Amino acid sequence: MEAVPHPGGPLRGVRVASDRASLAAARATLASPVGLVPTMGALHAGHLALIERARRECASVVVSIFVNPTQFGPGEDFERYPRTLEADLRACETSGVDLVFAPDVATMYPPGHTTSVDPGVPGTVLEGAARPGHFRGVATVVTILFDLVRPDLAYFGQKDGQQAIVVDRVVRDLGMPVGLVVVPTVRDPDGLALSSRNAYLTPAERASAPVLHRALRAAAEAFERGERDAGRLRSLMREVLSGEPLARPDYVSVADRATLEELATVDGPALLSLAVRFPSVRLIDCWPIG
Ligand code: PAF
Repeated sequence: MEAVPHPGGPLRGVRVASDRASLAAARATLASPVGLVPTMGALHAGHLALIERARRECASVVVSIFVNPTQFGPGEDFERYPRTLEADLRACETSGVDLVFAPDVATMYPPGHTTSVDPGVPGTVLEGAARPGHFRGVATVVTILFDLVRPDLAYFGQKDGQQAIVVDRVVRDLGMPVGLVVVPTVRDPDGLALSSRNAYLTPAERASAPVLHRALRAAAEAFERGERDAGRLRSLMREVLSGEPLARPDYVSVADRATLEELATVDGPALLSLAVRFPSVRLIDCWPIG
């Protein structure tokens, strides 16, 4: 167990465990209920909203920081994914986090590791179709984290709506003793959902990027006015996206919020979601309706 000092200020450091034994020792000292906020670091206000919510609902808060290689496909941004551990530890300390788990790859996936958790169909559509194997990697790392940290509650952002649905499926299918809490998306004032990948946007792309939010809002407002035809909601999103020349839609979706099956008619809880390619980065966003 280390207390990592911060040269930049008066903070005394946050408790950090980087191996399994020190995590287990630290976990044994935490008051219950324990909330876990799993992250890949590069913490922003969206993560801080998860931490704040966990603080309100739990006696102890653990944040994991691990850029998980198994959820990145070949040619994706694993190597260049932002790594800002010092700043992240400082943010955790000022947010009142009790323990940070910041393992390396060999700690999470010891040599010889071959087991993975396959979430099935909900992990093969939308982001899963665009990024084969992505949700197997997410489900595997989240299962390992839940097993090591043994949280009572775990906090996920609504922005990665499919991820929350896939993890919920895994937790229920495997009977894991953890409750999931999905926290509303934090947005910049112009509507862009906060994401560590926004750092890749050029100024011109940053100016175009709120189009994701505008497209979702247009469909959500149409739904509020009574539109139930999912095809028309998809067309509305595509129409808004087509107004931004830098934005190339990957998919727009109106899907059942439990199974992620594409809908013809919205007659229950549904998820509007989209993925858009800009020259420098691919962004996703979503909006629950119904
Ligand atoms: O949302 C993320 O940051 C990651 O997918 C997660 C849940 C930490 C698993 O690596």
